[in-house]
Formats: sequence, C-alpha cells, structure tokens
Amino acid sequence: MRIGVFDSGIGGLTVLHELIKKYPDNEYIYYGDTANIPYGTKTKEELANLADKIIKFLISKDAELIVIACGTISSNLYDEIKDKYGVKIVDVLSPTINYIKQNNLKNVGIMATPMTIKSRTFEKHLSSVIGVACPKLVPLIEKGEFNQELEDAVKEYLQKLKGTECIVLGCTHYPLVIPIIQKYSAIPLINMGKCLVDTLNVNSGSTLHIEIYFSSLSDEIITNTSSIIKETKGIQERKL
Ligand code: DGL
Repeated sequence: MRIGVFDSGIGGLTVLHELIKKYPDNEYIYYGDTANIPYGTKTKEELANLADKIIKFLISKDAELIVIACGTISSNLYDEIKDKYGVKIVDVLSPTINYIKQNNLKNVGIMATPMTIKSRTFEKHLSSVIGVACPKLVPLIEKGEFNQELEDAVKEYLQKLKGTECIVLGCTHYPLVIPIIQKYSAIPLINMGKCLVDTLNVNSGSTLHIEIYFSSLSDEIITNTSSIIKETKGIQERKL
C-alpha cells in the first residue's frame, strides 16, 4: 500500500517511525512542510490552505491512505478534510482520544501547540483534561537545539501539569524529547503515533520503500531524519 504521511516538519517522522515498525511492507511518502513551520501559531485558514496543498501532492504521488501526522492539523481540521479528497485520511488525535476512553484514564494532561490547545478538541471528547500550550518546543526541537533553553521550557510546562495521572504528547514533535520530559517527570506519557498504529488496518503487500520530501531542506533536517528513521537516501526538497 502507498501511504502518505505529513507534518509541518520532522515531528511526523515519529509517526512514520511507528508505522514502519508495525507495517514495514509498504511504500511511504513523507512530506514535512519545513518552509512553513511552526504550524502551531498559524490561523485555521492558513492551516487549511497548507494541508490542502500537501494532501493534493500526496494524492499526485498515488497515496492510497493519508496519515495526518500533525496534532495541529488533526485537532483543527480533521472533521472538515476527512471526506473531502476521495482517499482515506486518518488523524492522530482520534485514536489517542479513543485510547484514553477505552482505558478509562482520568486527570489527563495535554502538552500541545497553541492551536491544538485552542481547538479544545480533547476537551470536547474527554471529561477531565488539562491542556497546556507549549509554544517554545517545536522551534527548538526542529533546529535540534537540545539545550538548557529547551530543558527550561519543558520544566516550565510540566510544572503546570503537576498532579495529572498521564500526559498526552499532543504534538508529534514531542516524542523526540521524551528523555528530557522523563528527566523532570515520572508521569506516564501517551504517544499519539503509537495510539494510531495500534488501531490502523493496513493491507501490506509491497516491499518497504520510503520517499521523503521537505519544503525547505537543511543539513540539520537530513541529520535529524536519519537519526529518527535511519534514512538518508531519497530525501528531497520539494516546494508546493
Ligand atoms: N508536529 C506538529 C504537531 O503535531 C507541530 C506543529 C507546529 O509546527 O507547530 O502539532
């Protein structure tokens, strides 16, 4: 199966990584919109235009299934776009919300981008949720700046989630800083990419093939991509 996966940058690679682990016999086309990152502070209209271009690009690459590997697009636009393109589209929030419901988790903390928190999507489906917007994280993670500034930001956001029983990593960039989060908190973490792959039904059948496109490419992106999914071949710059 040809599966398109997209995000604003390298964060969605954490979802691609989970997909490849669970469903290796597929063809993956990844698009990271690094020229327009961060998505988390854009308007809904800007997000809709960006998502539209990327989905059309992935369809032009014959994607039969599209995975929105971005919490911000999932939370703000999934209902509007899921039936719009004649191809199956899945998001990362719905399976996460189902996981929380099925496991009857209460007192759930959400770390996410400002636009995901503003959408109140988790609150609409779950009763005891505390959302914290974490605007400093994506720009630092994307640049690969795992420095004191990033640690201080993580500490600041975790402080607001003291007393919660689990924390959703509500942005797909955040699994990249799990070691830093765990340095300051022992609260169990929920990874949306894992929730997604556990509920997805994929008809495998081809051999593993990965194509990766970024709208703006840099050496850091190539290094980060290869450390997340061990892929350095076939990374291309492609503006839409
Ligand atoms: N990985 C995106 C998400 O899950 C990051 C959004 C951004 O670029 O701010 O929300």
